[in-house]
Amino acid sequence: MEKNYTSNRRRIRANAHIRSLVANVYVDHRDFIQPLFVDESVQLRTPMTSLHEMAADSIESVLEQIALDLAQGISKFLVFPVPLAKSNHDFDFSFVVKAIQAIKRQFGNQVWIAADTCLCAYTQHGHCGILNQAETSVLNHESVSVLADYALALAKAGADCIAPSDMMDGRIAAIRKKLDENGYDQIAILSYSAKFSSQFYGPFRDACKSSPGNNLVLKDRKTYQFSANNAQDGLLSTIRDIEEGADLVMVKPALPYLDMIQTIKQETKYPLVAYHVSGEYQAIELLAEKQLVDRSKAHIEVWTSLKRAGADAIISYAARHAKQWLAQLEY
Ligand code: PBG
Repeated sequence: MEKNYTSNRRRIRANAHIRSLVANVYVDHRDFIQPLFVDESVQLRTPMTSLHEMAADSIESVLEQIALDLAQGISKFLVFPVPLAKSNHDFDFSFVVKAIQAIKRQFGNQVWIAADTCLCAYTQHGHCGILNQAETSVLNHESVSVLADYALALAKAGADCIAPSDMMDGRIAAIRKKLDENGYDQIAILSYSAKFSSQFYGPFRDACKSSPGNNLVLKDRKTYQFSANNAQDGLLSTIRDIEEGADLVMVKPALPYLDMIQTIKQETKYPLVAYHVSGEYQAIELLAEKQLVDRSKAHIEVWTSLKRAGADAIISYAARHAKQWLAQLEY
């Protein structure tokens, strides 16, 4: 019988030496962005029951948390505000402005702060924009105009990056224009450019008290977030956001939309951030709690798949463990 040299695939898996030699996908702690929640209703760091190891921080406690995270090699953060007052217009953004000012005053350019820019934590109805009088639709133009003002306030407070997650049309152009006109042309925009309507946001909505639900017509976010059943929207909307001025783009959630990460990276070549969202994170945490997976190895396996698919950066609730866990990684 003729020898088939290609049939032996196991030689390159024989030991950790050769496995590390043939490895070509790497995860590095510098790839990570750590989410933080600043909550106006708490005085002390308050653990979240729905998101393991995460907490609602006061302005004071978020400064302590950031100092700890810096010591763990994490310097990029995504800040989510949870304001006390909810309304449906004339929003008060002063709490998050104060929080970002305090962070920048203490840490300056040691940290890079992306500010999530959305209205869902501010509205009584929990939707990401302003509703019409009858509360039957989310008004695009009105929402975008408020979001652009909000973005400017965040930039003035010291945010390094504006990260709009509302999913209105034209928000990137409006925000870019507003920032440029006011001298903030160096502030980057990370667009949640491919954000799907997902079950996996459950723990986050619990944490941010931002579930839409008591509205009879708009029970979910399907009129603005994307459908899992549409294979083109992620790419087309991302290209649109790039044309409007996005500097970085995003796929969210991560694992159920791995194909989107690959397609968007291949087609656009743009810096791409994968958001491993709250439900995806908590699923691993619950499996680990039941000792059905090894916690750090499960997170690393997912992170590796995101990098392999084409992500440049990862938003993970476990970001602050990345450096330590990855240092112990065996191929
Ligand atoms: C707000 C927003 C959400 C997330 C990030 N920004 C929730 C939503 O769209 O309902 C989800 C993050 C996560 O689940 O980790 N628009």
